[in-house]
Amino acid sequence: MSARRRDAATALAAVMVSALTLGAAPLAAQAGGNPARGRQVYERYCVQCHGARGDGAGEVARWSQPKPRDFRQGVYKFSSTRYGSLPTPADLDRVIQDGLYGTRMPPFAALSTRERRDVIAFLQTL
Ligand code: HEC
Repeated sequence: MSARRRDAATALAAVMVSALTLGAAPLAAQAGGNPARGRQVYERYCVQCHGARGDGAGEVARWSQPKPRDFRQGVYKFSSTRYGSLPTPADLDRVIQDGLYGTRMPPFAALSTRERRDVIAFLQTL
């Protein structure tokens, strides 16, 4: 390869790398909720069922069939990933927005995107 062609190739590679990182930035922001703020959302809207420790033993759990999920187990039913793997943030977002019909899991359509992102980040710490 001539020196000029090599320079061109290097420049092209640099452009491709920056295009990749630019493309990834909004995605990262989408995934990056704030778990501390998420805990506040959780304590307001989720704790009565999913429990103060995220163990599914909230006050209302006794009257709930199926039981609210114990998030500490890391075993989820509504996931696009393989059984036993953690769901994606998009999976969690769908459940939180739409609820689970036929269970006590209500839809939280009124939560903002940021609140959902934050509460998902909090769930991921459990
Ligand atoms: C009134 C009770 C109740 C409240 C409030 C509640 N949940 Fe749930 N949630 C449930 C129940 C019950 C299930 C399990 C349904 C099932 O097993 O099919 C569930 C399941 C879930 C799941 C699905 C887990 C899986 O297996 O894929 C997620 C995620 C979830 N809840 C998140 C939340 C979040 C976040 C909040 C607060 C914003 C919340 N829930 C508030 C009762 C509740």
